[in-house]
Amino acid sequence: MTQLIDRFHRRITYLRVSITDRCDLRCLYCMAEEMTFLPRAQILTLEEIYTLASAFVALGVEKIRITGGEPLVRRGALELIERLGRLPLKELTLTTNGMRLAECARRLAEAGVRRINISLDSLKPERFRRITRFGELERVLCGIDAAREAGFAKIKLNCVVMKGYNHDEVVDLVRFAVTKGLDISFIEEMPLGMIKEHDRAAVYYSSDQVRADLEQAFRLVPTAERTGGPARYFRVVGTDTRVGFISPHSHNFCADCNRVRLTVEGRLLLCLGNEHSVDLKRVLRRYPGDADKLRQAICQAMAIKPERHHFDLNERPILLRHMNATGG
Ligand code: GTP
Ligand code: 5AD
Ligand code: SF4
Repeated sequence: MTQLIDRFHRRITYLRVSITDRCDLRCLYCMAEEMTFLPRAQILTLEEIYTLASAFVALGVEKIRITGGEPLVRRGALELIERLGRLPLKELTLTTNGMRLAECARRLAEAGVRRINISLDSLKPERFRRITRFGELERVLCGIDAAREAGFAKIKLNCVVMKGYNHDEVVDLVRFAVTKGLDISFIEEMPLGMIKEHDRAAVYYSSDQVRADLEQAFRLVPTAERTGGPARYFRVVGTDTRVGFISPHSHNFCADCNRVRLTVEGRLLLCLGNEHSVDLKRVLRRYPGDADKLRQAICQAMAIKPERHHFDLNERPILLRHMNATGG
């Protein structure tokens, strides 16, 4: 079988598929307050997404993560996930803001999703609202409980840490994760798209600072366990919880990058931190039903996968797209 290998000998086995750029929240680090979303004609149909995903699986992709925006706001998302669940994958996963999990968790688990990641930046309702611009903490907490009851093998919380917004809650968040039997990742904010509310350099709080804070309350032991993403994990001694750190600024992880992204516009993005991309929607629509053309386009794209991202919090963002366009 042909495999996807780039110029730096990295094998691509993980595809992140953004199925919508829309979201029912407006997290400060992700979007501007006023956003224009893509018109329908410009986005892939669910059928096209399925065709593309299948093409990647035929090229050795073993893990697919469905992202957004918020994936569960797209009509037909569950049906698509059910179909993808029948592909020969090692893992089908989802990243969600949790707002609709109470309704969707059971069907997701039945579709074969074994693990999900849920964003949770604060346990204080007012702060949660401030960070997400209008999210309801209570609803997300109900979603988390629904996910626990639905029987996923692992649930991981994602927390983007920002000084002055939520950095003082990291111990409470880990305590919450421990109580609920969840994993949790702490993420350094990345400069994608212009945002007005905060200066990203001023609110930077490094993974090492978070770890030092956690070590005041817990014993953390490094573990070599990996989930296929960029997080490096520690076990919280005496619990089932793993704490992950995603540190694009302080500990670059690009050397073992195994992933590419499909945007809902059908653009194959070869790195979150660069613009290199290939328009797969054009190939799909120009040569309908031609699996060879699609395969060729995907294989050729590997030649332009960049070596690494270069984020600088002190400069204006070099990438104008917001995170909702790529799903993180
Ligand atoms: P696991 O399968 O649990 O390892 O998930 P994941 O960490 O790959 O995915 P998730 O959607 O939960 O993303 C968590 C954070 O990691 C988000 O902020 C993503 O933007 C970030 N992330 C994931 N992959 C990359 C990457 O290749 N480069 C950068 N810079 N950030 C990434
Ligand atoms: N920097 C880091 N992480 C981000 N996310 C969204 N925007 C950013 C950003 N600018 C995270 C969300 C979600 C995941 C998909 O990406 O919190 O958990
Ligand atoms: Fe929506 Fe996720 Fe972006 Fe928050 S981070 S606005 S939940 S897409």
